[in-house]
This record gives sequence, C-alpha cells and structure tokens, in this order.
Amino acid sequence: MPVPIPRHIAIVMDGNGRWARRRLLPRAAGHRQGMEALRRCIRACLARGVEALTVFAFSSENWRRPADEVNSLMELLAKALTREVPELEAAGVRIYFVGDRQSLTDHVRQGLAQAEADTAHNSKLVLNVCFNYGGRWDIAQAAAQVAARLAERGEPVTEAAFSEALPGALALAHMSDPDLLIRTGGEQRLSNFLLWQCAYSELFFSERLWPDFDETALDQAIAAYAARERRFGRTGEQIKLVQTAAQTIAI
Ligand code: FPP
Repeated sequence: MPVPIPRHIAIVMDGNGRWARRRLLPRAAGHRQGMEALRRCIRACLARGVEALTVFAFSSENWRRPADEVNSLMELLAKALTREVPELEAAGVRIYFVGDRQSLTDHVRQGLAQAEADTAHNSKLVLNVCFNYGGRWDIAQAAAQVAARLAERGEPVTEAAFSEALPGALALAHMSDPDLLIRTGGEQRLSNFLLWQCAYSELFFSERLWPDFDETALDQAIAAYAARERRFGRTGEQIKLVQTAAQTIAI
C-alpha cells in the first residue's frame, strides 16, 4: 500500500551553526549549506507530491544574534531571491514570504513581492518561507486585524466572532494547517513557530543537523507520520468507524 503523504509539511531547520562549528567554519557557512539542504528538500517534496512546504528561515528572535550572522542571513535571502527564484518558478513552485516585513529594507521587500508575483501562476508546490516570523507576532497581528474589523462594524469582540475571524487573518490563511512538523538538530521545541497552526500537527524530531537532512531523512519523517493515528480530539474507535464507512462507500 502506498504511504500516505502529508499534504503540508512545516520544518524548523535547526543545526546550521553546529554543522559549521564541527568543521571549524563560520556560522554563515552553515547557513549556506542549509540553503543547499532546503533546495534538496524542495525537490524531494515536489517528487513526492507534497502540496505545501513551510520553512522557518528567520525568526523574530533571530535579530538577537551577532550582527554579522544577521547580515549573512539577510544576504542569503537576497541571493535566494535572485538565484533560486527563477529555478523554483520553472519547477512549478509558488512562493509566499510569511512574516513581518516592516523591518526589512525597501530593496528586500520589493524582492519578496516580485518573487511572489513571478510565481503566482504556479501550483505544484506552495513554498512558504517564514522570514522575520514569530507565532506570537502572527497571532497578535491577526487579533489586531480582527478587532479593527469588528470595531468598524460596531460589533463587540465576542468569543464566537473572534474565533471565527482569527484563522482568516493569520499569516498562513492561504493554507491548510501543517500535517507534519519536522524539527532537525535534536532539539524538541516549537521555538515560536506556527503556534496556532500546529495545534494538531504530528511532530517529528530528527537528530540530524539541517545541512545533513536529505531525502532519506525526509522519507523517515514521512514514514513516521504515516504510522500515526490522527484523532483531532476524537477517540480511536470513532476514527476507525469513519475509515470503515469511507472504505465501504469506495467499494
Ligand atoms: C537555525 O540553525 C537556522 C537558522 C536560524 C537559519 C535557517 C536558514 C536556512 C536553512 C537557509 C535558508 C535561508 C533563507 C533565507 C531562505 P542554528 O543557526 O540555530 O543552528 P545551531 O542550533 O546549530 O546553532
């Protein structure tokens, strides 16, 4: 039987710094190698029919790193815009940049908008690059939007109105929630990534450092996902009943 493929995979690409340190290289070299791993991963997702890939490239908290490392990540983003986007466009990838763009330079902001426009006609794989992103920022900006909209209409912020409108105001409103969240680098935490959207995602933690993450490692994560029973708050018996009913209809 074919392995069920997660429709949407999210990844915390951790371990670039350690990868570089083990080779006595600067951290920037680890990030460059991380970019290679990301290219590989996008290809592998395309080949496996994954519909969406969401990656954490720069968190709201990464500004706290030394200035030269922050600069190297900004440069990597600028380079990716010129070097990678044409190739991704040709491969059928639609790119979205997700995060707070206010503190990015005008030049980078224009580049992000251009990459999104250039790939808007694609639909093989959606690639969400989370850059200057934080889950708490996302929920706060969405809450502010919802509150402003309700105030405009003179409606009170009730629990019902708020929870109905919030998901549509989040930065990943164009997507279904991730089915599988992978974190590399051996740490087992979310680090403020997709806090709302990963409420029911299956979590997979890999000891591999991100630059070493390859197709085999991705397949291990997908196989682990395929072996899980997703219950969304229901019981295992309820899920089996629904599956049996679906199989009966299919027959
Ligand atoms: C975490 O590893 C990784 C990052 C903060 C950056 C991730 C960026 C890439 C993989 C390159 C792709 C970039 C763009 C712009 C698309 P770490 O540095 O925290 O590693 P450590 O835990 O070993 O120190």
